[in-house]
Amino acid sequence: MRIAVLVSGGGTNLQAIIDSINDGRITNTQICLVYSNNPKAYAIERAKQAGIPFVVKSPKEFEDRADFNKALLQILKDANPDIIVLAGCLVVIPGEVVKAFEGRIINIHPSLIPSFCGTGYYGLKVHEKVLERGAKVSGATVHFVDEGTDTGPIILQKPVMVRDDDTPETLQRRIMEQAEWKIMPMAIDLLANNKVKVQGNKVIIEDYDRKVLESL
Ligand code: GRF
Repeated sequence: MRIAVLVSGGGTNLQAIIDSINDGRITNTQICLVYSNNPKAYAIERAKQAGIPFVVKSPKEFEDRADFNKALLQILKDANPDIIVLAGCLVVIPGEVVKAFEGRIINIHPSLIPSFCGTGYYGLKVHEKVLERGAKVSGATVHFVDEGTDTGPIILQKPVMVRDDDTPETLQRRIMEQAEWKIMPMAIDLLANNKVKVQGNKVIIEDYDRKVLESL
């Protein structure tokens, strides 16, 4: 399976994917492209170090958003991925990309969807809202991308306990370590091995050791 990984920042999820391919936790998979909208993203350095082709193209290079959308679609079509992985990508994925890769785009969101998600819930804001609400548990979700924001079928989730002394930063870090870096690689491995079936808004994981899924 060929995957294109779309990033905007530090790229720790990208690193988790690279490491999991290297150590065999993800099988049958190659990263055909890393795309970043942000030329300063450390994720680009990670792609370079791993010898993965990368493209940097910012919407700021275009006068018109529609032109950027077209360029992004072309970049992705040229890379010819089976699956597009949004790993901390802050660019709103244009409708034409969602259509062209229908059912083949996945995203990692740092909360347990349907809590703390949707428009305006990204980055540290998610964790700030969790702490403001006094929630005792949060976590992460890998889901398919559809036309809505965080509304597509859920593939995997993992809970993480909130601590009384958490700051948005400490909660973010723990959710990455305990949840994101585990469920994203596992979701990719499931897809690469044809274990994921979508029935309406529900994902069924077929023919997979439940113990492995539950030991995450
Ligand atoms: C992660 O928290 C992810 O859930 C969110 O953006 C962050 C990306 O971090 N969508 P990184 O670039 O993978 O380090």
